Amino acid sequence: MDHFLSRDGELWAEDVPLSEIAAAVGTPVYVYSSATLLRHLSLFDEALHGMPHLVCFAVKALSNVAVLRLLGEAGAGMDVVSEGEYRRAVAAGVPGERIVFSGVGKTRAEMRAALTGGVRQFNLESEPEMRALSEVASSLGVTAPVAIRVNPDVDARTHAKIATGKSENKFGIPIAKAREAYREAASLPGLRVVGIDVHIGSQLTDLAPFEAAYRKVAELAGALRADGHAIERLDLGGGLGIPYTRSNEVPPLPSDYGEIIRRTVGPLGCEVVIEPGRLIAGNAGVLLSRVVYMKEGEGRDFLILDAAMNDLVRPAMYDAHHDIVPVREPEPGDLDRLYDVVGPRLRDGGTPSPAAAGCRRCARGDLVAFRSAGAYGAVMSSEYNSRPLVPEVLVQKDQFAVIRPRPSYEEMIAKDSIPAWL
Ligand code: LLP
Repeated sequence: MDHFLSRDGELWAEDVPLSEIAAAVGTPVYVYSSATLLRHLSLFDEALHGMPHLVCFAVKALSNVAVLRLLGEAGAGMDVVSEGEYRRAVAAGVPGERIVFSGVGKTRAEMRAALTGGVRQFNLESEPEMRALSEVASSLGVTAPVAIRVNPDVDARTHAKIATGKSENKFGIPIAKAREAYREAASLPGLRVVGIDVHIGSQLTDLAPFEAAYRKVAELAGALRADGHAIERLDLGGGLGIPYTRSNEVPPLPSDYGEIIRRTVGPLGCEVVIEPGRLIAGNAGVLLSRVVYMKEGEGRDFLILDAAMNDLVRPAMYDAHHDIVPVREPEPGDLDRLYDVVGPRLRDGGTPSPAAAGCRRCARGDLVAFRSAGAYGAVMSSEYNSRPLVPEVLVQKDQFAVIRPRPSYEEMIAKDSIPAWL
């Protein structure tokens, strides 16, 4: 459930009409609903109730500091994969003991920053990374709490570009080699083993792969404990999928996901960390755009929008689908047509965006909303075609605030500098 609902013939974000935001901030613009973000966070807390747990929001999905502040104040931890994300979490006021540091290529500088500023644990992905972290921690006179990310070799049955749990993926240490890796970690002076980490992929709409992976983790935890390691925490990653269409998709529920966690790893008595990104942020955001032109093509008509591939790259990058809905409900006299929806550059990715049935009666100047765009939307936007980065707005009840302004052309161009020799 989200808080983008129709009222008085148009779409609102909570108690603010989207047309009011478009008028104040311009388009394109990302709009997020605080109530939806908080509701999705609380679904995970409810799913894991009774088990010691921490929900660490995957900052990569939506990294605006205002959003991190909102979730952090509601008790969320953060899962970060870079010093930039770490700094954002800290800037949002999230304490270090609620920040887990994941990612395959942590540099020594990043390790140093997190060890100095405070961190709950590092999720380590390779032996060389273990050795580097031990050295950095020792040089600072501290020990780093670590979990090792194991690759359970299960098929997440999701898009190939976002599946990470098969043995051929670059992520983690093969589960068959895990005991060896833990032995080495335990022998390194700068590390303190606290648990196991696993993440098998993103946008999983089937719970079976989670169950298979978590069973393997539970079995491994038993073996590692027998080897003498203190396995107190299990970081079970993110990945729970969301519905991207409002039609017949039935997504898995956080409560069912929670049951699987309880069933598979509950008896170990570990603290459970999860790292959801998409489920918290995806349906809590829309990309609001305006129709610039309606163009009649041969055999097909186009709605040309002011949002483009640089603002929402997912359709071009992953063949992803986002429902596109008109903000103003059609009126009886409106022209009825089926359009292909394109941005000025949307076709550059080679993938025409799908016809948006909901926009059949759109006209020039109308607003449309790309649904489910809160996760991996703004964070993956770019200035491609020298279009200034898309701004972001956060709504809470009847108020809204610009949480990232649209840069001016001057600001965009001023980031470049011309060398003295030119
Ligand atoms: N933890 C780790 C270690 C991850 O790699 C990811 C996502 C998550 C947590 C959060 O997963 P989520 O709950 O959001 O599925 N750009 C792609 C998605 C890439 C996901 C990468 N890792 C997209 O637009 O679909």
